[in-house]
Amino acid sequence: MATVQEIRQPVEAEWKLFERFQHDCLQSDNPLQQEVLHYIAQRNGKQLRPLLVLLAAKLCNPVTDKTYRTAVALEMLHNASLVHDDVVDSSDLRRGAPAVHVRWNNKVAVLAGDYMLAKVIGLVAEVRNTQILDIISSLGRSLSSGELAQLHVGSSMWIDEAQYNRVIDLKTARLFQACAEAGAESAGCTQRQRTALREYGRLLGLCFQIKDDIFDYSDLEELGKPTMSDLRDGKVTLPLIIALQRAPEAEAEAVRRMGEHLDDDPRSLEQIKSFVLRFHGDEYAVQQMLAYKKQATEALAVFRDSPVREALIRLLDYAINRVQ
Ligand code: IPE
Ligand code: IPE
Ligand code: MG
Ligand code: MG
Ligand code: MG
Repeated sequence: MATVQEIRQPVEAEWKLFERFQHDCLQSDNPLQQEVLHYIAQRNGKQLRPLLVLLAAKLCNPVTDKTYRTAVALEMLHNASLVHDDVVDSSDLRRGAPAVHVRWNNKVAVLAGDYMLAKVIGLVAEVRNTQILDIISSLGRSLSSGELAQLHVGSSMWIDEAQYNRVIDLKTARLFQACAEAGAESAGCTQRQRTALREYGRLLGLCFQIKDDIFDYSDLEELGKPTMSDLRDGKVTLPLIIALQRAPEAEAEAVRRMGEHLDDDPRSLEQIKSFVLRFHGDEYAVQQMLAYKKQATEALAVFRDSPVREALIRLLDYAINRVQ
């Protein structure tokens, strides 16, 4: 599997400009806000979304000033959503360090996330492109409705695969889709190129979230965030959905009951984890990612072979095989 640095290779020069621009955008005249932004910038994660923006743009045409603003805006939107997500999920660790709501408190996390979203609006306004504005404003609605849907259907032991797919499409895949689509648009792509990259981005995002949900059933130390936390927080994801579907009815029923009363027995989480592995719910999820990867690669067929196109294919492999 290629590393992120290797995938970045065909846009290495552009990446340096992106980083410089991002650094300039992380200034605030409010000292507390500045401290929070600095804290986040010091642990900046994999930065896959701006990478996708740059690659999608360059696959079509040379990168423009609009591309950099779009890349910074979408990474900032991602970071804001993580700051809020850790409050919503009561999750204490992010990128190997205390989450913002732990380092400070919930109020600071909510307000700092809001501030970042306000910055996103400013950046998008500066792009001065109504198509990119449309893409990013509808994205904001998708992310929120995905998170809200997860609070309800995502927390039921009766959620099915179709409902799960809807949640991950809204809460995660749409952001990847927007990165690819807005990236392409920022470089003045054709409609055909835009449609292809939009589809690629959505499928990459679905793989990305499925992998994240598999991680939750793993013991990976490199993750930098807690494992077995989805279920602890009441969230039922693909590996468990499939195991429940495959198990004999009586056993599935017992696991559902256990999942609804986790506090009754401290061994419940471990028991549910081994139930998932016994019915190969994780393996099914891997197969699902491979199917999406195939479709995403097909979507790229409208582009001729190039190092940038190759990097996008490697990015799919990375999403599926990563350990972080
Ligand atoms: C985490 O995204 C949120 C999900 C969509 C699963 P990343 O794994 O891309 O987070 P960072 O930015 O690299 O930390
Ligand atoms: C991430 O979902 C999607 C967002 C909208 C942030 P998760 O809640 O699974 O992400 P992690 O596991 O906390 O990174
Ligand atoms: Mg979370
Ligand atoms: Mg969440
Ligand atoms: Mg997760």
